[in-house]
Formats: sequence, structure tokens, C-alpha cells
Amino acid sequence: MKTSSILTWSGLLASVNAHGYLTVPSSRTRLGFEAGIDTCPECSILEPVAPWPDLEGPRVGRSGPCGYNARVSVDYNKPGEHWGDIVATYTANQIVEVQWCVDNNGDHGGMFTYGICQDQALVDKFLDPDYLPTDEEKQAAEDCFLEGELKCTDVPGQDCGYSPDCSAGELCWRNDWFTCNAFSADSRRGCQGVDGAPLNSCKTTIAGGYTVTKKIKIPDYDSAHTLLRFRWNSFQTGQAYLHCADISIGGGSGGGPTTTNTATTDPATTNPATTNTATTLTTTTTQTTSTGACATPATSVSVTFDELVSTVVGQDIFLTGSISQLGSWSTSSAIALSAGSYTSSNPLWTASVSLPVGTTFEYKFFKKGADGSITWESDPNRSYTVPAACAGTAVTAGTSWR
Ligand SMILES: *[C@@H]1O[C@H](CO)[C@@H](O)[C@H](O)[C@H]1NC(C)=O
Repeated sequence: MKTSSILTWSGLLASVNAHGYLTVPSSRTRLGFEAGIDTCPECSILEPVAPWPDLEGPRVGRSGPCGYNARVSVDYNKPGEHWGDIVATYTANQIVEVQWCVDNNGDHGGMFTYGICQDQALVDKFLDPDYLPTDEEKQAAEDCFLEGELKCTDVPGQDCGYSPDCSAGELCWRNDWFTCNAFSADSRRGCQGVDGAPLNSCKTTIAGGYTVTKKIKIPDYDSAHTLLRFRWNSFQTGQAYLHCADISIGGGSGGGPTTTNTATTDPATTNPATTNTATTLTTTTTQTTSTGACATPATSVSVTFDELVSTVVGQDIFLTGSISQLGSWSTSSAIALSAGSYTSSNPLWTASVSLPVGTTFEYKFFKKGADGSITWESDPNRSYTVPAACAGTAVTAGTSWR
């Protein structure tokens, strides 16, 4: 099933060069694009490589940690006229929102990560406008960025899921990296499904972009000028995407070199995040400790259905679906959602149901008015497959009324 959908998609996408790039903070690539130097910021591609399931396996080669765009022959591992200045200034241990942009025709699913390399001498090789790092230096830096991974699980309260396209025991079965949603999902598919943001919520050049937003924790480290590296490993294709942004970090409690922060920060490029974080629900697990295979695979998983839907007093939200646990499409035996966490800015209705691993079903939410009238969500039916998970893990299916 997985194989056939991959074949279908690669057939459709065979001639498409459209993918993704780091947008917040402004990557060197984004700046190159805005300066008109780079005509396809989402086209800096490391290929062909085997990025799945061994996420750290591929050698970065000429792409290096900052990316090489063969289409326009631009190597972002070296500062250029339009990039290389600091775009964001952070504080040690700060939690910050970061964002990348995936193109509508090139959403290959998979997993992504951010990193900061604490070997300043090595990073300095990427800050010299007169020096292009060698492939060996590029690889050494990438190894250092992987070492300095900013783990999803380091951010308190952040949901850190396992990839629905990965199986327990595979090298991709880790929730310290961030995951896109299932590559072949019917709704909230792939990386664009992470935010569920509208088309053109960020800029790409081929088919329009979708934001992908997460939070990272800046390490306890000081540097007047260093790099934040973004890396996305594709699930569908033999490709990875590497980008970096020039940043400054202050306020660390030692460990790093003492710095005088002379960085200039352009407010126009520092914080262009515009996503509505209320919509950034995704299919995630709440287990945040294990990064390896399960000690005990679960047979059933608690699935939390989060639905963002504004209601008026007297209205309630229910869900029903094709399996008996959800009421077999009956409105009278449907599951009632709770508005316990509802606020006007985050109109969240939620319910949790324990379901057997691997169950695939269709479902839909409906509103019930004070007078008993029923309003269904629009078609199509939603569909969901309960993912394989470790015992004690909860998963969330996050959606918005449609
Ligand atoms: C949704 O599922 C119900 C129950 O199986 C079915 O009657 C209906 O046609 C489905 N809707 C769509 C758009 O497929």
C-alpha cells in the first residue's frame, strides 16, 4: 500500500523540482531569493542520497550544512553580498518559533531537525566571505550540527511525534527530530499538514508554499555570530534539504566564549512569523523520553481528537465515524467533545478514545444546537489510521472545522 502510493506520487512528481527552505529566521537562501539572486529558494537539494530511514546517514557533499542550489550555482556555505549578516539575536535557553516553507508540488513528507554547532572555529569557516569551505569541512560542520541537535523534546509541552511513515525499530523511529504527517494521508498530508496553513502562507516559486512551524530551545551557549542549521530528510525521494541562518546568541552561563554582541539586527527580517499558532495542531505523540525502539509496543492507543471550532453558547461538538468505538455513524451514539480548554483565541474541543493500533476508519465532526439541530462538517469524510506506538503513548489527531 505504501509502495503503490509512492509509485503514484513519484510518477506525478517526476519532473517537479519544488521542495522547501528555512524562512524564519531568514535563511541565507531566503535572503538570496529576496535579493533576486536565487530564482527557486526551495530548490537547494542534496541528491541523490538515501535520507530514509537512516536520517543521519547521507554525506552532505557540496551541499554542506547551508545548502548549494545547483539551479542557480549558488553556494550558501559562504557569505554573499546579500546574506551573511545576523538576522536574529537570541538568548541562551530561549524558546523560539522557527518556520520553513514547503512547496505544494514537492511535499515529500519525512522528518526535519534544527541544530547549532558549538565549535566556533569550525563555524567561522562558514562566516568568511573570502573562503569557501571544502567538502571535508562541510561534512565536519554537518556532523557538529547533528551533535548540536535542538531536540523537539527539549521544548516543554511541545508534542513530539514519531513519523507515521516509520516503524518502531527503524533508525527514523525517534521523536527528537520533528516529523511531518503521513506522506499518503487523506487530510493534513505530509509536511504541509503540520500547520494545516493555507496555500501561499509562505512564498515558493513553483506551486505556492505552506508554512511548517515548530519551536526550538536555544542552547546554553554564547556566540556573537553563529549559524542555525535546518535539515529536512525526504521520505518519498532520495533528497535532503539543508539551509542555515546567521544568528547571535547571548546570555549563556559559560561554556561558550565570552562575546561582545555587536550584531545588528534588522527588525524587518527578524520576526516575520505570521502563522496562527492556534492551527498548528498535528498528529503527534506526547511521549517525550524514548528516542529508540519501544520496550513495549502498544496494542491500543489513546487517540485524542482535537478540533478547533468556534461555537456559541448552547452548541456542542460531537464526532462519529465508521467504527463502533465512534458510534458507527450514529448521531445518537456519537462521542461528545469537551470544551474544557476552549478560549476565543483557541476554540478547542477535544475527546480521547482508546483504539486498537492499525485501525483505519473514517469520521466527521458535527455541531448540535440547543434545539437538537445537527450541522455536519463538509465532505469529504476524514480518515485516520491509529499509528503503531509504544505502550503508554498517546496520539493526537488535530483538525479544524471545515
Ligand atoms: C461519509 O461516510 C458516510 C457513511 O459511510 C457515507 O454515507 C458518506 O457518503 C461518506 N461521505 C463521503 C463524501 O464519502
